[in-house]
Amino acid sequence: MPHHRTETIGGVAEPVIRIDHNGPLTGEIRVPGAKNSVLKLMAATVLADGEFLLSNVPAIVDVEIMSQLLRSLGSIVEPVDSDSLLIRHEGDMSTEVPSELAGQLRASINLLGPLVARFGRIQIALPGGDDFGLRPIDMHISGLEAMGATCHFAGGVLTVHASRLKGANIRFSFPSVGATENLVMAAIFADGETTIDGAAREPEVVDLCRFLVAMGAHIEGIGESTLRITGVPRGALNSASHRVVPDRIQAATYVASVAVAGGEIDMIDAQRGDMEMFLRRCTEMGLEFTELVGTGLRVASSGRLTAVDVQTLPYPGVATDYKPLVIAMLSVANGSAVVTENLYPGRFKYVDELIALGANITMHEHHAEITGLPRLSGTEVTAHDIRAGAALVVAGLAADGVTTISGVGHIDRGYDDLVGRLRGIGAGIRRD
Ligand code: EPU
Repeated sequence: MPHHRTETIGGVAEPVIRIDHNGPLTGEIRVPGAKNSVLKLMAATVLADGEFLLSNVPAIVDVEIMSQLLRSLGSIVEPVDSDSLLIRHEGDMSTEVPSELAGQLRASINLLGPLVARFGRIQIALPGGDDFGLRPIDMHISGLEAMGATCHFAGGVLTVHASRLKGANIRFSFPSVGATENLVMAAIFADGETTIDGAAREPEVVDLCRFLVAMGAHIEGIGESTLRITGVPRGALNSASHRVVPDRIQAATYVASVAVAGGEIDMIDAQRGDMEMFLRRCTEMGLEFTELVGTGLRVASSGRLTAVDVQTLPYPGVATDYKPLVIAMLSVANGSAVVTENLYPGRFKYVDELIALGANITMHEHHAEITGLPRLSGTEVTAHDIRAGAALVVAGLAADGVTTISGVGHIDRGYDDLVGRLRGIGAGIRRD
């Protein structure tokens, strides 16, 4: 008989996710907008006055925190309906980002480019977000300095000043998502042309650039590794409306769920083109995909997965955010495989939790060697970050018995009703 469990921390009941049976999964799921796009779109709105309507906004905690951040700077942010947000600003804004909010969200650093571009200054504490090792911002800083900004760091707080940024040629040694986004936004009002060589090409970076173009920015090379931004006068940008690109990592979470629990589901709004390399690895593992032209993607399982080696790379490679899901899938595949992390060497914390569920995983520096077992075995585990939490849910679907996951707050930061969506396709999962 399944047991019920609610963790009590400091006298307050913390929710847990409980999975007690699984598969086959069938039906339809709608993939919400991408966390890693919407947070940057929200930051970008400070570049202009007016009303911005964002649609396909996921109902996640990180959007709440970014809304609070914008409000603390003087914006009005209000939900219009369950998945749209109206943001309004007029005139001057504060450029001092409250530390307690900045510290809760990695994407708070995305206020750097737009606030410095428009108001010539920012004061912000180092960003928070998931803890998977060192997450430096040196590329953001050196890019701003190349554009003429003065950056000063003291007591955990970064202060940047620039009366007018000037165009520069910036060459990245690594295609950082956040640095690309910040420097594109910084260059919007800069004097002359800025080029960014080695820019990140993730679908969320493309989504941000399209939004900026709709606002009146001049950006060429969108989706390519060299971006050229020609500065326009401050005040030349207008407000715009935008539909957030669907979340490829949430879509991948549903793919992984079908992979371990069996079945066939239609993922409405999933964009095949945005997740090509991940889908290729999944196809090699034995999953079948059918494009539902104009509406999404169907995924079907045809039995136990086959083990396949995977390594994470910047887009268009297999994203680091898919990796915990891939390791959960390989834990029940037929054979052994090695998963190599090339972006965040410390992003393996959840492996111990998967091992607690019975997975056979051995770590060799930034390589995980996984030997698949027919099934995992349910127990109590803890999510330490968003994607790790999703991987534990997938592992719970691959386990016999009851899996209880605490640390659900991490999952809520990036997943819009993961439990409800999985229940909707037949998973035995609930939130207690
Ligand atoms: N890096 C530097 N210096 C910098 C910037 C980055 O050395 O100035 C290094 C990082 O330490 C890391 C690598 O470059 O090793 C990648 O960092 P990147 O800047 O590309 O990542 P990010 O912008 O901080 C975003 C997503 C992450 C996702 C990565 C990689 C957001 C809010 N976060 O982070 O998403 O893993 O890109 O694709 O967009 C998640 O959603 O769970 C998540 C962690």
